[in-house]
Amino acid sequence: MDYDIAEQKIKEIISESDSSRLLQNCIGYLYEKFAKYSWAGIYIMKGNNLVLGPWKGKQATEHTKIPIGKGICGHAAKTGRTEIVSDVSSDDRYLACFVSTRSEIVVPIKKNGKIVGEIDIDSDIPNAFDSKDAVFLEKIADMLAKHI
Ligand code: SME
Repeated sequence: MDYDIAEQKIKEIISESDSSRLLQNCIGYLYEKFAKYSWAGIYIMKGNNLVLGPWKGKQATEHTKIPIGKGICGHAAKTGRTEIVSDVSSDDRYLACFVSTRSEIVVPIKKNGKIVGEIDIDSDIPNAFDSKDAVFLEKIADMLAKHI
């Protein structure tokens, strides 16, 4: 899938979606169109925790509430920076969700400089994410920010 086409399509999804389905529709699109995105979800910041919102994947995760600072997700929430983990088995911070996961990207969603949520994507492929995914997903995060 081409990143520019996907960005344009997500813009359309956002403008056409009912607000209650918007995040679900966007995450569903990412999961369906990028074969290497094996699980895709949005965590919403609530107090000192990230709470799982819409997601799409073969399995549900047990990590539906992650404290800031815990796991890759909690770390990205603490620093405000995108995290790319090329090999989850060699990262001590990693909170395992699925045995098949090999790599992960977490992108903070910021509204007026404040973190309001995150896009979290797992891949069953080692080293699946690079700066193209980061730039693309950071644009999607900016588009979603006003809807969280
Ligand atoms: N692996 C994440 C937890 C969320 S699951 O990937 C869906 C982490 O280390 O924070």
